[in-house]
Amino acid sequence: MIPKESKDFIKNNFKKESVVCLTGAGISAESGIPVFRGKGGLWEKYDPQIYAYPEGLISLLRTQPQGLANFIVDFYTLLIKARPNPGHLALAVLEKEGIVRSVITQNVDNLHQASGLRSVIELHGNAFRIKCMECSHTIVLERDRIKEMTELVKINKDSRIKLLKVLSRYFPRCSCGARHRIDIVLFGEMLPEEALTSAYKQLDNCSILLLIGTSLVVYPAASLPLYAKERGAKLIEINNEPSMLSEICDYKITGKASEILPEALTLLGYA
Ligand code: APR
Repeated sequence: MIPKESKDFIKNNFKKESVVCLTGAGISAESGIPVFRGKGGLWEKYDPQIYAYPEGLISLLRTQPQGLANFIVDFYTLLIKARPNPGHLALAVLEKEGIVRSVITQNVDNLHQASGLRSVIELHGNAFRIKCMECSHTIVLERDRIKEMTELVKINKDSRIKLLKVLSRYFPRCSCGARHRIDIVLFGEMLPEEALTSAYKQLDNCSILLLIGTSLVVYPAASLPLYAKERGAKLIEINNEPSMLSEICDYKITGKASEILPEALTLLGYA
């Protein structure tokens, strides 16, 4: 439930082009995609020191191909099954009504795009895309192709050579000669410059920054709320528990994004 003072703020201030959103894994929780941290999080099952770093994934391929195969299968099985939930869909309606100007997301699950949202800034890339490691040429991975790859990875997970053969079929060489890899930002890697520049541009003149389902522990994404606040934005947090930056938020709404956002939609008369 949205508390009364937040309700009043939303009703009186969610005007045209006034809201920018920063989303994290929590907005996709009700789509069946586990968050990263906390109970049941992805990093509880897979050590991020290995699975979130390029070096770790490469060493896995050499020393423990089954581990890498299990991670790929778990990760992509959830992604291809996931569909936008009422939280994603509510943001798409708020964009259509001209209230939400842009959504900056840390998520790589493509669910904002699948909800019909048009202005999505992907800080950490997109798991449904592969990118050449040299010339940045990108290819979109269709859901069926990912499904096929996941099946073949499962069958060939006990042999490093066979697993490599499968992966090289779905992450082919580019015409420039280099190889494609998944287009997501791993720990220790630079964020896509264009995305970060667009995010800062959105925050240069936004009156409200809606922080949805993010623990705000990973930089530079976690620097955006303060950047916005220093330029006069009001911060509203929607989370089912406090984040690292709850203290600097002007309004804190505790609950599930998939329930709170549709409630805000009704409050504004769009549902
Ligand atoms: N509704 C709203 N918030 C939720 C919900 C929900 N249904 N479920 C969980 N949350 C909140 C949690 O309380 C937590 O604050 O979502 C947040 C999820 O935090 P993380 O798992 O840390 O995810 P995120 O903030 O997106 O992580 C940022 O870290 O591992 C990297 O690259 C990865 O993009 C990711 C980045």
